[in-house]
Amino acid sequence: MSTVRFLTGITTSGTPHLGNYVGSIRPAVQASLRPGVESYYFLADYHALIKIDEPARIQRSTLEIAASWLAAGLDPERVVFYRQSDIPEIPELTWFLTCVTGKGILNRAHAYKASVDKNTAAGTDPDTDVSAGLFMYPVLMGADILMFNAHHVPVGRDQVQHIEMARDMAHSFNHRYGEHFVAPLAAIEESVATLPGLDGRKMSKSYDNTIPLFASSAQLQKLIANIKTDSRAPGEPKDTEGSALFQIYQAFASPEETAAFAQEFAQGISWAAAKEKLHARIDQEIAPMRARYQHLMEHPHEVEAMLLQGAIKARAVATPFMARLRQAVGLRGLAVQSTSGAAKAAKSASAAFKQYRESDGQFYFKLLDAKGALLLQSTGFANPKEAAQVMAQLKAGGASALPACKAFIANVADAAGLDEALESLRAQVA
Ligand code: TRP
Repeated sequence: MSTVRFLTGITTSGTPHLGNYVGSIRPAVQASLRPGVESYYFLADYHALIKIDEPARIQRSTLEIAASWLAAGLDPERVVFYRQSDIPEIPELTWFLTCVTGKGILNRAHAYKASVDKNTAAGTDPDTDVSAGLFMYPVLMGADILMFNAHHVPVGRDQVQHIEMARDMAHSFNHRYGEHFVAPLAAIEESVATLPGLDGRKMSKSYDNTIPLFASSAQLQKLIANIKTDSRAPGEPKDTEGSALFQIYQAFASPEETAAFAQEFAQGISWAAAKEKLHARIDQEIAPMRARYQHLMEHPHEVEAMLLQGAIKARAVATPFMARLRQAVGLRGLAVQSTSGAAKAAKSASAAFKQYRESDGQFYFKLLDAKGALLLQSTGFANPKEAAQVMAQLKAGGASALPACKAFIANVADAAGLDEALESLRAQVA
């Protein structure tokens, strides 16, 4: 089989904490380095709108999360790292999936049901304060996943139901319109620890017990001092079991370091000294990333540029795929008839892209029609790969890919001829 595609989204509704790092950022960055995998990681900012109506918070969280992932070692050259709202095909696909999803299925989604149950218990209307966005959440998530035909979706347990719904959507669509979607599977990392927070419960924003991933070393020390412990005095042996402090240490340390720490617990290390050790151990791992994080937070345009590059890569897949799906469901140009498609393709079959390098060192391409007349001239690209990506996008998407590529087109010589040539190129690809 060809490469396996992993995809996961991070809702841009908060500041990353150590629990996010241990539970998702670190394993995802590691997974992205394995050979034979293709990773799609994205900032789920459309999803954030369901929970948050403070524009500045959404923007801030998007920057913080992107900077955190990059600082933690995510290589945007190696993975496709993008922002959901830069991919207009996703809301379009959401609508297609909405039309093949039973309303009854969505009624059973946990997040929606929890709100309804709460309202019912309170004796109010079941849908009080429930937006249609919350109700539709699983469909948007289905579109995220199916857009890129991901095979595996690393998520927490609370999200497994949503992946099952995405499978249902894939099957319903395929059943009606032919095999277009891969049915995704949830990937749950059993070995990854759930990190306890300051109060010993799961570290979570909703419990207000988190340690921000990029707290300064001094802040980190202060927060660690707040981790709940029992009242055993220095010299008294301490339990590792049920100790949040010990569990957090374990999430950062090697098995040998953990064993040594357990030994110290048995020998009665003071809580103050144990906290000191924990601080040092976390800092050892996080400190090297902090400078990069600070740099990115202070240079948001660098993050922005990386995300836009990611969006180009993502759309090189999404735009042509969406064009195919539009065809499949019958959203078709009226002038284009399926029978004459082949004939039309033959007519301008020799329209072709030419790629070349200019004396400015940049890479360019142009599209010529059968007679060699210039139809389109690109802007300059830093490397041939980027130019090739845009060409592929145009080839696969035809004229429907034009809006996505607009930023890369310097000049269109003949609009009508261009449409025709692109359509014929697209027909050849199909
Ligand atoms: N709903 C996910 C969460 O809150 C985030 C998310 C959005 C996601 N779209 C996704 C995760 C697609 C995996 C795949 O954690």
